[in-house]
Amino acid sequence: MCEQQLGFGIDIGGSGTKGALVNLHTGEFIGERIKYETPKPATPEAVAATVAKIIDQADWDGPVGIALPGVVRGSSMLTAANIDPSWLHANIHDVFSAVLGERAITFLNDADAAGLAEVAYGNPQAQSGSVIFLTIGTGIGSAFLVEGKLFPNTELGHLLIGNEEAEKIASSGVKKSLGLSFDDWAPRLEKVLGEYERLFNPAAFVIGGGISRKSARWLPLLQLSTPIIPATLLNRAGIVGAALAAHSPEYIAG
Ligand code: BGC
Repeated sequence: MCEQQLGFGIDIGGSGTKGALVNLHTGEFIGERIKYETPKPATPEAVAATVAKIIDQADWDGPVGIALPGVVRGSSMLTAANIDPSWLHANIHDVFSAVLGERAITFLNDADAAGLAEVAYGNPQAQSGSVIFLTIGTGIGSAFLVEGKLFPNTELGHLLIGNEEAEKIASSGVKKSLGLSFDDWAPRLEKVLGEYERLFNPAAFVIGGGISRKSARWLPLLQLSTPIIPATLLNRAGIVGAALAAHSPEYIAG
């Protein structure tokens, strides 16, 4: 396979930093996903060293896409809700180039990456019309997609609903920390999605993150007018979207 059809994606999360080589025709991994614990504290330098380890292990010398849990513009992170605040002051391109050497590195928000991947390789319903993709994990990430094109850096997890942020109401992190059953948690998710529906009126919601694997447990409990589609790429989405963005950085222009 020629290099044109390959991309390398990295997804940096609160607990794990993961990477894989991706076949960009199919969205499938080539070889194993490589995973390390995200270092603590997760400073840019420490995380960059972990990423370098993954890339060395994969023996990859091409471009790399890196998905991050915050607002990303060029070489800067503008928010750091679920990552070390030192990212806000770093030139992330310089920090990563210092260990990854001379190669193209593309940074993007993790939910934007996952949303792009879902559009490219997931449920065909995500490819047309106005879609809000949400990734529900430690926080809530969002990607706005219109006909498969991304409006980057939306942060719906931080939308205030009443006086609480959406991700403090209905993330999996909250479900876990409060020990909520699906029956207890579903009304919280409905409240959040109901507010998104009221304000943005998408044609569909696509829900990703770990919770999408268990959609049979919560989907029937929701009553909304907007169709809700569970994502199909599960925990592959962030890596695959990052690989796609590395190969075609125009996906995240703006
Ligand atoms: C961050 C988002 C991110 C989401 C999922 C939120 O707290 O603000 O940028 O996409 O968590 O990681």
